[in-house]
Amino acid sequence: MFPGSLLSLEDLSVPAMEEIFQRAAYYKTNDRGVTFSALKGKNVILSFWEPSTRTRVSFELAVRKLGGNVVDLRPGQNSEKKGESLEDTVKTLGSLGADALVFRHEMPGLFGKIARLVDFPLINGGEGCYQHPTQALLDIFTLKEAGVVLSGLEVVLAGDILHSRVARSHFFALPAYGARITLVGPPAFLPAELVPPGMHYSYSLDDVLSRGEVLYLLRVQTERHRRFFPSSAEYAALYGLNEKRLAALKQKPFVMHPGPVNLGVELSRDALHILEKVYPEKVLIQKQVQNGVYVRMAVLDLVISGRMMV
Ligand code: CP
Repeated sequence: MFPGSLLSLEDLSVPAMEEIFQRAAYYKTNDRGVTFSALKGKNVILSFWEPSTRTRVSFELAVRKLGGNVVDLRPGQNSEKKGESLEDTVKTLGSLGADALVFRHEMPGLFGKIARLVDFPLINGGEGCYQHPTQALLDIFTLKEAGVVLSGLEVVLAGDILHSRVARSHFFALPAYGARITLVGPPAFLPAELVPPGMHYSYSLDDVLSRGEVLYLLRVQTERHRRFFPSSAEYAALYGLNEKRLAALKQKPFVMHPGPVNLGVELSRDALHILEKVYPEKVLIQKQVQNGVYVRMAVLDLVISGRMMV
């Protein structure tokens, strides 16, 4: 595999993550609308085979802010329509001068296969239900920026754990920093065999909500559901953060979500309104989106320059 690819947070040490965060903080502090030069003359290909707004746009902005060239390789408009395999496509990208490929696809296992074929780094922009490393990195950056101490932190990860690549990236990242995760969701979304050894889990949000210093709400991924999903209203009643649950909490948690939020399902409109009006420092959802640009700038810079630690 080409050294420096970012496929999973399993491969990344805390010092490596810290280096990314320092670089991201540098770019955030010094972002005054002037283009940086770290990627001058470099070509970054974005190829997203699943829908995306935040990740794709923030990677594109990150490349442009670093002075690089960005090419959006859209599925359906490439030679795969003429029968070219994905493997041949990525080899062709190398011949065309790609310096990195940011890739999103639903198929787990494909990323490792491609990473072994190419002679430039591959960055995982979202791998099916399996990994979303830059999302977990930007989440941790956002928590640190909010002054949250990660060692001993209690994080409640709530919702569709089964389909969440964000959760699976956090299974590596948050415990590496000494944070404790409690998983909560309906039994169909939280099979016991999915729970990493030693991690707490519950099927009742009300039983575990008050322990969370951070409440990380996961999107209900209806597009991936093959099993019976009762109803959004039933899910919201049992697992959504609503006004009543929020009011019952003496200590309001930091509220996070990878987006897009299904308003009225994972988080009610009223609860979001109260958080934004009364506890604005506690709702980190838009900060996560903003920080995505800087964390992805840092990742691109370190990966393409060959300075990414492991
Ligand atoms: N969080 C996230 O991956 O969002 P997008 O699907 O919009 O990129």
